[in-house]
Amino acid sequence: MKKLIYSKFGGPEVLQIAEVPIPTVQETTVLIKVKAVAINPLDWKIRNGEMKLMSGSKFPKGIGIDFSGVVEEVGTATTKYNKGDEVFGILDVFKGGALSEYISVEEKDIAIKPQNISFEQAAAMPVVGAAALQIFNTLVRLKKGDEILINGASGGIGMFATQIAKTKGAVVTTVVGDSGIQAVKDWGADFVVNYQNEDILKGNKQYDIVIDLSGKMPFSEAKIIMKHSSAYIHTAPGPKEIVVSFFINLFSSKKYKLLMLKPSPEYMAELTGYAEQGMAIVVSRVYPFYSFNKAYTEVPKGKFIGKAVITMGDLV
Ligand SMILES: NC(=O)c1ccc[n+]([C@@H]2O[C@H](COP(=O)([O-])OP(=O)(O)OC[C@H]3O[C@@H](n4cnc5c(N)ncnc54)[C@H](OP(=O)(O)O)[C@@H]3O)[C@@H](O)[C@H]2O)c1
Repeated sequence: MKKLIYSKFGGPEVLQIAEVPIPTVQETTVLIKVKAVAINPLDWKIRNGEMKLMSGSKFPKGIGIDFSGVVEEVGTATTKYNKGDEVFGILDVFKGGALSEYISVEEKDIAIKPQNISFEQAAAMPVVGAAALQIFNTLVRLKKGDEILINGASGGIGMFATQIAKTKGAVVTTVVGDSGIQAVKDWGADFVVNYQNEDILKGNKQYDIVIDLSGKMPFSEAKIIMKHSSAYIHTAPGPKEIVVSFFINLFSSKKYKLLMLKPSPEYMAELTGYAEQGMAIVVSRVYPFYSFNKAYTEVPKGKFIGKAVITMGDLV
């Protein structure tokens, strides 16, 4: 079968298609024929070598974390799935490897695909949906009426965070570029600031929660627009942020929180519920498998809405 791999850190040019054996099903795993795989910033950060501490430097490496597909075979100790079930799921964030014709996955890491969404939409959910849920379930407790700022709201996490924050009764301000304005309004944003012609840091509004998804608003800047007791979420922390946040949290009432994604079956169930209730899951770019190089060249440049996904259709 075909699998996308790389054997050294670098740009999209290090990606290549390898012929490898179809993985064998273990007692507790399920073999899945992959239909679609989401593209995430984590893919290129790991591939570039930016996250060596977590990903290790052993090659070859696979790429692609969240996926959807159809169950092909089930392990003898599995209980939940049957051949033919349509599922979606998530692989180990730092190992990846979903861009492959078949993958063998622990039963706990998949869920039945909601019938009302496509394979592309299902693949788009696990990483960014779980990240948004983890922010609201473990890092901050949103109360009705809280003022929340989502900086970089038109992308993957922003799409889920904006809609989830609205369901919790928050007043949501989003910062997006020209291309994202209509989308965040559709997702329920109360206020929209266009970063291309306005600097949110120069406004006089103060927030209970600031989530930076752009990597361009550090805590040192965000604290100007944070209320006395408030929280800032850094979504791409490295060792420096871990140390800095520890000391800031000792002395400041403005808390500095770090997102470190821990996927769970509970998040998969919660995302299934949101999808079934009709939450918008926008996949604005779909690339066929053989266009992987184009996909990983274009998507990091941004300017798309929600998620970008690679489909395996051209492999059939
Ligand atoms: N820590 C973890 O466990 C974990 C897990 C998942 C993701 N993440 C990280 O979380 C971050 C967000 O992920 P994502 O999937 O939501 O990324 P994404 O889909 O690429 O979204 C990023 C957003 O930032 C916006 N942006 C760019 N420049 C901006 C600026 N100057 N001001 C405001 N917004 C700006 C982009 O808008 P344009 O399209 O206009 O450029 C885009 O909508 C990434 O760094 C990712 O690696 C971390």
